[in-house]
Formats: sequence, structure tokens, C-alpha cells
Amino acid sequence: MSDHLDKKEQMQQRHEIIKERLQKIKYKVVIMSGKGGVGKTTVAVNLAIKLAALGKTVGILDVDITGPNVPLMLNMEGMRPEINTDTKTFRPVIGPMNLRVMSMAFLLESNETPVIWRGPMKMGAIRQFLAEAEWGELDYLVFDLPPGTSDETLDIMQLIEGAGIVVVTTPQDVALLDSRKTVNMAKTMGRHMLGIVENMAGYVCPHCGESVNIFGIGGGEKAAEALKVPFLGRIPFEVDVRIHSDEGLPFIIENPNSPSALAFEKIVKKVQNVMES
Ligand SMILES: Nc1ncnc2c1ncn2[C@@H]1O[C@H](COP(=O)(O)OP(=O)(O)OP(=O)(O)O)[C@@H](O)[C@H]1O
Ligand SMILES: [Mg+2]
Repeated sequence: MSDHLDKKEQMQQRHEIIKERLQKIKYKVVIMSGKGGVGKTTVAVNLAIKLAALGKTVGILDVDITGPNVPLMLNMEGMRPEINTDTKTFRPVIGPMNLRVMSMAFLLESNETPVIWRGPMKMGAIRQFLAEAEWGELDYLVFDLPPGTSDETLDIMQLIEGAGIVVVTTPQDVALLDSRKTVNMAKTMGRHMLGIVENMAGYVCPHCGESVNIFGIGGGEKAAEALKVPFLGRIPFEVDVRIHSDEGLPFIIENPNSPSALAFEKIVKKVQNVMES
């Protein structure tokens, strides 16, 4: 019984610490989707980098415990956080544009080491990242979530009050159906929906620049209308975006005049307008 109470007290204490740390962060933006592979991490990394380029102090937390991709997309693989053994806290790793970055990948032996954990262990890791990471004073903390409405997603949504939610989708029906579920989950929990981003909307031919609609186009906007949430914009499918991501070079910096970067700039402005107003 007393063990149980101790555990409860400890959890309560940790919750208070998390609250205190998060209070030092002005704006929290959560990037999520119902479906995998639609571009959440791409959006999260480029949003964080763009905000940092605009002079903001920015952190990014990779909440994808079993498939952490943020370090790869920021060319930070193999880096390690600095641990303070006295205070039992750690400093997030400093990335490009002075981004403060935390990811499960920094704690794994190699990028081929699998994390085979069930929900409660993954939630424990996320709470540890939030309670023990010294983010310091931040303008923005961007959360890159795993796909779906799983335990970690629910947990993070409950923990971070006052966050703005961005739902990423591709234009085809299956992805849209899943994104509807995600929007409804955020709404049910009373969270602030910043809006929907339609990614991979039209393929831009690298040779002639012409756009071909592989997954269709406009579905994200229609879903936003139907769900009565803002539509933040659409990012075309561009081979360069994928190549830069794989090389750990955010496209927003690498190729600032590309159709994707220009579209993305507008999305960042909309996010800023709402968060900073
Ligand atoms: N607009 C785009 N044009 C071209 N490639 C893109 C675009 N957006 C994302 N990609 C590529 O698609 C792949 C999946 O993107 P990403 O990892 O960001 O998706 P995700 O939603 O985070 O996936 P997961 O659900 O696995 O976390 C990556 O290789 C990325 O480079
Ligand atoms: Mg991802």
C-alpha cells in the first residue's frame, strides 16, 4: 500500500516538475497525423528550423520512441545529450540553428538498435524527456509525434496544455479518413487546432517543373472545411525534399526558392500568427 502511495506521489511530483518546465516555454506546437509516412517529421523539423532562422529560441522533441527520425533529418545521428549526474537532468543536444533537440535516437547504441517497448514504457520515456530535460527558456517547442492516436499521443496531449495542434495529411482518401480521427481526438480533448497541412499534394517534375497529381489534390482543404478547422496550406511532392531530408538538410534552408519551401513559408507564418497573437 505504501509502495503504491509512494509511486503515486512520485508520479504527482514528476507531473509538477513537467508543468514547471513547460511553463518556461512560450509556445508549444504538436505535429500529428492518423497515418504513418505522411510527412510529420519533415514538417516538424522544417518548422523548427524556420522559426530558429527567424531568430526564435526553439526546441524539438521527438516523441516517436520506436521510430525516432528527427536526428537523421537534422544530420545529428550519433550525438549524445550532456548528463548532469548531480541534478539527474540532461541538456538537449544542440543542432543546426542552435535548435535544442531531444530524441530517443540519442540514447540508442546505433540507428539499427530497435526499441521494442510497450505503451507504458514509451510513456515513461516521454515523461522523463519532459521532466529531466533542461530546455531552459524557449520561444517554441515543437513535438514530432508518432502516427495514430496511440498511448504516447494521448499522453502527450494530456500533458501539454495550451499547445497548438497541426495535423498533417496526404490528399488521398485513406489518409484523410485517418486525419479526421486525429482532428476529432484533438477536438474531443479540447485542444487548440491550428489546422491541417496537406503534404505531397502534386508531384513537381524536377526536369520541367510541371505538377502531376499522384495522390490527388485538395482533399486536405476539403477535410478542413468539413471539420471546421483552418487549412494551413499544401506542400507539393518534390524529389529534393526527400533527398535533403535523407541528408539531414532541411529543405526550407537548403532550397528556399523551391515550390515546397515557398508553400511552407506561408504555413509557418500562419502558425506564428495564431500562436503569437
Ligand atoms: N513534400 C514532400 N516531397 C517529397 N518527399 C517528402 C515530402 N514530405 C515528406 N517526404 C518524404 O517522405 C518520407 C516520409 O516523411 P516523414 O518521415 O516526414 O513522415 P512521417 O509522417 O514523420 O512518418 P512516420 O509516420 O514514419 O513518423 C521521407 O522520406 C520524407 O523525406
Ligand atoms: Mg515521423
